[in-house]
Amino acid sequence: MSQESPTISQDAGGLRALLRGLPSLAGDLPGFDPGRAPAEPVALFGRWLTEAIEAGVAEPHAMTLSTVDPRGLPSARVLILKDVDATGWWFASTSAGRKGKELANTPWAALTGYWAALGRQVRVRGPVHPAGAEVSARDYLGRSAGARAVALLARQSEPLADLAELAAELEWAEDRITREPELVAPDWTLYVVAAEEVEFWQGDPRRRHTRLRYTRTGSTWTKELLWP
Ligand SMILES: Cc1cc2nc3c(=O)[nH]c(=O)nc-3n(C[C@H](O)[C@H](O)[C@H](O)COP(=O)(O)O)c2cc1C
Repeated sequence: MSQESPTISQDAGGLRALLRGLPSLAGDLPGFDPGRAPAEPVALFGRWLTEAIEAGVAEPHAMTLSTVDPRGLPSARVLILKDVDATGWWFASTSAGRKGKELANTPWAALTGYWAALGRQVRVRGPVHPAGAEVSARDYLGRSAGARAVALLARQSEPLADLAELAAELEWAEDRITREPELVAPDWTLYVVAAEEVEFWQGDPRRRHTRLRYTRTGSTWTKELLWP
């Protein structure tokens, strides 16, 4: 079935002009010599993360997690990276929400991070594994009381009829957490993206971007450059 091509409207609200006037990958960006990159991606990720922190990037540990639903339709959201080690890239969420259900059905995901001040993007893709209950519980108990209360409701991504209902339920959850500080939300899950592909992308103001992709076979990583 052929689909009609979308046509672009008049720029009535001025958004097109606004967007096209915004700079990107401008200014002084660091260099990246892929010839000196380590043999595996975790070490390089750690180096880039440290440099992002030193450069004052806000929330350098935020990444976009992309998942797909049973129809293969994608959805993406920002979340916080909890750890990176030889197993992979770790994040935590409830298993009861949209991403949790999508991951239960298709246990694969992509994580994308962008550190604008450095013009650096990192892309990670791989199968996703939930950690065991004990490890997930430890992550939950390490969260702030407010974050634990919201997670205890285990209603993430459900339609909310009105904000007063949220306030009432949170009051109940906060009270329960105060009375039972060791209480763990049963759906809270630490997940790991066991990366099979990790790409490091260094932007260049002249658009000669450097792309280095690591691909894993078993426990061996291979590196290759990609055209920008
Ligand atoms: C900076 C930032 C950090 C976030 N961290 C998390 C997180 O660690 N875990 C989480 O479940 N949601 C986090 N969220 C909320 C998610 O973006 C999202 O709204 C939520 O997980 C529901 O997604 P879902 O409906 O696709 O399951 C964060 C949002 C932002 C903007």
